[in-house]
Amino acid sequence: MNAPASCPALAPAGDAPAADLVLLGCGQVGRALLRRLHGQPAAARLRLLAVATSSRHLHAASGLVAGSAADALDRVAPGAAPADPLAWLAPDGRRAAIVVDASASEALAARHARWLAAGAHVVTANKRGLGAGQERWLAIRDAQALTGARYGASATVGAGLPLLPAIARLRAGGDRIHALAGTLSGTLSWLLDRYDGSRPFSALVGQARALGLTEPDPWQDLGGLDVERKLLILARAAGHALPASAVRRRPLLDPAKGPDAAALDRAMAGWLARARGAGRVLRHVARLDADGAARVGLECLAPDDPLARPGCENRLAIHCDRYPEAPLTLSGPGAGPAVTAAGLLDDVLAIAAAPGAGRLAPPPGSRS
Ligand SMILES: NC(=O)c1ccc[n+]([C@@H]2O[C@H](COP(=O)([O-])OP(=O)(O)OC[C@H]3O[C@@H](n4cnc5c(N)ncnc54)[C@H](OP(=O)(O)O)[C@@H]3O)[C@@H](O)[C@H]2O)c1
Repeated sequence: MNAPASCPALAPAGDAPAADLVLLGCGQVGRALLRRLHGQPAAARLRLLAVATSSRHLHAASGLVAGSAADALDRVAPGAAPADPLAWLAPDGRRAAIVVDASASEALAARHARWLAAGAHVVTANKRGLGAGQERWLAIRDAQALTGARYGASATVGAGLPLLPAIARLRAGGDRIHALAGTLSGTLSWLLDRYDGSRPFSALVGQARALGLTEPDPWQDLGGLDVERKLLILARAAGHALPASAVRRRPLLDPAKGPDAAALDRAMAGWLARARGAGRVLRHVARLDADGAARVGLECLAPDDPLARPGCENRLAIHCDRYPEAPLTLSGPGAGPAVTAAGLLDDVLAIAAAPGAGRLAPPPGSRS
């Protein structure tokens, strides 16, 4: 649906926007991004042209008001969105055109490389772009190289913590990244931080679900697939071109057993006893070793390990040339829609500010 033409843009009149945006995904993160766009002076030169979910869309060639776009979208009658969001980003050769993917959609992630190849920049919280099969990751990389369009993925890992930018900076400075280790699931860190054996583990899972800390199906969190995708994204950014099959992922409970709370409680009680017996701490760890081996699962860590500290922050230890004695360790709140949206906006603003950032290719025959 097209919004009324009188709808004001984010950019003040007379101040040419530096970038046009299309937002795909208007759930928790998408809505938090709209709130942030509305409140941030730094976002004044961005123009939001369209917002869409899987079943609704709202478009205004003159720009939408970010603060009310989510409510306006809710009032739109469901209907199929246009096949290509680039159709909303009229190329004029002057402004950067940015597609923001704030969904977890496989179908959208499969199109990231195509958008980049057309000259549009992509900013995403969707891990299925860089954290899926190797072919998709390579296609995204090649499309960027072809057109100079940029791919902002800071929000895919650590929900806005500057983990990928730190890796990129170290590599740009000539460092080799030898190994990585991280606690990358806020949900699993929350559960393990509280698990002391006084209550069954499944009771804690129920509490986390009631607090909105888990996926609607918490067994997905316990499987660790999300963390596997994050490890793939980090490892590839660190220069290790891993195929998805290279990650050895050990779910908290054997999937063959199905969602069996009693079996989960027995397995977790066993892990806790082993950790305590060895004077260690139980953590869910994503690890890339120096020999390229990658794994995701529970580990019993020494109490002085940087990943063993109490709390449910995201943490990443980066072993690289310039810090031979101890890894560079980054940590902080790495979950939640607000910080994820902040990570998305950081990437959007960096693209909009980049001198000579690629522009969407005008259609053949156009002079602009
Ligand atoms: N929530 C967090 O704290 C958090 C933290 C870090 C990263 N992330 C990542 O951020 C992304 C979004 O998370 P969320 O919590 O906001 O999820 P969510 O609340 O489930 O919202 C997902 C949104 O994507 C939309 N969508 C799905 N397929 C689409 C399509 N083909 N075209 C356009 N929109 C489509 C959904 O529309 P329908 O409702 O119509 O399906 C919905 O609006 C995910 O990749 C997630 O892993 C989230």
